[in-house]
Amino acid sequence: MQKKINFIDLGKHPITNNFLNFSNPKNEFFYNLKLIFNSETKLVSLAKFVSPKKMFNEKYAHRASASKTMQVAYTKLAKLIKKEYKPESILEIGSNDGVFIKHFKGINNLGVEPCKNLALITKKMGIKTYDDFWTYKLSKKIIKKHKRFDVIYSANTISHIHNLDETFRAINNSLNDNGVFILEDPSLFEVIKNTSYDQFYDEHAYVFSITALKNITEKLGLKIFKIEQLETHGGSNRVYFKKLHNNKIKISNIVSRQLKNEEKLGINDLKIYKKFAKNIRKSKKNLIKIFKQIKKNNELIIGYGATYKSSTVLNYCKLTSKYIDYFLDTTPTKVGKFTPGTHIPILKYNGIPDNVNFAFLGAWNFKSEIFKKEKKFIKRGGKFITHVPYPKLI
Ligand code: TYD
Repeated sequence: MQKKINFIDLGKHPITNNFLNFSNPKNEFFYNLKLIFNSETKLVSLAKFVSPKKMFNEKYAHRASASKTMQVAYTKLAKLIKKEYKPESILEIGSNDGVFIKHFKGINNLGVEPCKNLALITKKMGIKTYDDFWTYKLSKKIIKKHKRFDVIYSANTISHIHNLDETFRAINNSLNDNGVFILEDPSLFEVIKNTSYDQFYDEHAYVFSITALKNITEKLGLKIFKIEQLETHGGSNRVYFKKLHNNKIKISNIVSRQLKNEEKLGINDLKIYKKFAKNIRKSKKNLIKIFKQIKKNNELIIGYGATYKSSTVLNYCKLTSKYIDYFLDTTPTKVGKFTPGTHIPILKYNGIPDNVNFAFLGAWNFKSEIFKKEKKFIKRGGKFITHVPYPKLI
């Protein structure tokens, strides 16, 4: 019997994308962030979803091309896909600002992006883009006009869509018989191992394990045949699917290996989620301790990268402007605003000022890129504060 078990309550949280114009906003929206484990499908999700229209609209701030690491990763992937699958048509679900799909000019390339401000960017690049949510109805409309696709790619998007059955059915229906669907999303295995609980926020309705993906998609006619483990977004899986009844599928050994690894970690069992919850509570306690200790000496603490992820940490640990003086960020749409829920000012990144000795790594997933950039800060004794894999100074 399907049983959804609540394993942690992370308290009240705002819309992570709702960067504020004022430090004292009126009527800010909050929801209760609780996590649940489905004992049948093994899927881990938010207990209650936030309305997509509240999150994905014309004010959406995230730009996939804002990070050099991601630009390089998408360029490399586009090359690999062209070499391996030689697609004549490609569809991207969640095409953001075109950082990936722009590499496929000259073939039937199509984007789907519900945030109108982002869809406009790819439209201006000359890429046909549907500024709508991915649904079965939309997939039918697209097939009618553009036929089925050799490759469908979706990074950091499927985990945002609430109705997974409809999503995967629509994908299956939009693939050519020998087509490949490639999904990329944060890995639950890595999240549990690193206590990176900040992968859970309003937009991330799910954090997938391979086990749960297999359980859900096979019923809907898709078969996993390859997995790549990526460092992006703090540890992601790139999962390759073909149609279940495609008799040309060769399944890589890595699929069964990863399923075994997940089983060993206990991903099928409620016990691991209780342990995860315990680790999250411990992480909160120890992170607050670090902030309090530094503040005792009246030191400035800044935030480095006002990520969506950091919103979960700040709101769960109640790290307001009492602890973090300001954030630095390179994204123009975030600069000059305040962090949702915790109301910390976000300033334009122009290097770390000399009077700052401590910086909380909001963008911990770009640690190597940041450490390379901040050699001067590190050399003069500056310390980064992180909560992954456990709270510490680096
Ligand atoms: P992102 O990785 O997309 O995380 P999330 O999905 O949790 O928001 O966000 C990275 C943010 O960090 C983005 O706002 C840009 C910022 N950033 C910097 O300000 N400087 C940097 O050197 C890097 C790598 C990122």
